[in-house]
Amino acid sequence: MGLLEEITKSKKELPESVLTLSQEEMEMRVKEIKKKLGTKLFIPGHHYQKDEVIQFADTVGDSLQLAQVSARNTEAEYIVFCGVHFMAETADILTKENQHVILPDMRAGCSMADMADIYQTEKAWRKLGELFGDTIIPLTYVNSTAAIKAFVGENGGATVTSSNAHKMVKWALGEKERILFLPDQHLGRNTAADLGIPLSEMGIWDPIKNELQFEGELEKVKVILWKGHCSVHENFTVKNIEQVRKNYPEMNIIVHPECTREVVEKSDLNGSTKYIIETISNAPSGSSWAIGTEMNLVQRIIAQHKDKHIISLNPYMCPCLTMNRIDLPHLLWSLENIVNNNFQNVIKVDRQVAENAVHALDRMLIRV
Ligand code: 13P
Ligand code: SF4
Repeated sequence: MGLLEEITKSKKELPESVLTLSQEEMEMRVKEIKKKLGTKLFIPGHHYQKDEVIQFADTVGDSLQLAQVSARNTEAEYIVFCGVHFMAETADILTKENQHVILPDMRAGCSMADMADIYQTEKAWRKLGELFGDTIIPLTYVNSTAAIKAFVGENGGATVTSSNAHKMVKWALGEKERILFLPDQHLGRNTAADLGIPLSEMGIWDPIKNELQFEGELEKVKVILWKGHCSVHENFTVKNIEQVRKNYPEMNIIVHPECTREVVEKSDLNGSTKYIIETISNAPSGSSWAIGTEMNLVQRIIAQHKDKHIISLNPYMCPCLTMNRIDLPHLLWSLENIVNNNFQNVIKVDRQVAENAVHALDRMLIRV
């Protein structure tokens, strides 16, 4: 079944037997099933998930941590992944054949991952090869399809996450003269700029026009940024920063590197989800913070640090709508299906694709 069919089908899937339950009844049922399945069941949850879901996660982490725990877990038969589609694919690639990865709602995609498909990538690679010969190594943010990870693996490259992007870009530039960074231009640009690469040595690959956007001598190009972005993190703006600086001059501003270069430059600190959590945890009581990342995480950090003054950098909060597709009813429905041997939304990456993608993931996992 194609992804579109899966998505259309999953819209109608929740049965009345789940939808008519109260929140307490659903929570009780999830607890019962977790107890019954014991270590046969494993529920990883990304930091951006809702509280109603995260309360049942066996482990909570950022993309890198969740990839690492998936790779280590050999015991669970069912991995019910509370995150988005590319994370569930990564878990399937890194786990054994007899382990089944389930995504509670197939609509939990990632708009950034959708901004690069394998056909565009192969077309881009051919054209870039004509321009630069064999001087490019591909790196892909884990927020990408399994097919792109496989392409990157086949071409000697690696995956990166926001926690290890500096390390991986440095490694890649030791391998080849230039990198193609997919699909998040902002993480690529922010990382390369931190490593001292001037913006004048970064080009942009436009996958719609199938062309490289760069002014100057081609020889100068060190980093080719795929023209993709996160629609959640692009909602944090320079104007938001100016407002915070005006209203709360003492406030520290910390943002995720999926934000634009201008926002990152004007912030005090930037780093991965894990970095943001640790920085706020280690900050002195009474300190004040504006955070530029996904809403569920910001709200959780606010609730956990009542001794600090914390706000979202954007007053409208910026939820990731696709992450929010995973809710308590979908989690319960997935677990009921397991108990009833009626598996739905199983994420199974094609074997050949998985074999190539694992090279890209392994090149990252051995370096972190
Ligand atoms: P990290 O979990 O790597 O911080 O990435 C954030 C994100 O946008 C996940 O989709
Ligand atoms: Fe994708 Fe952005 Fe949502 Fe992360 S926050 S899943 S990158 S759309």
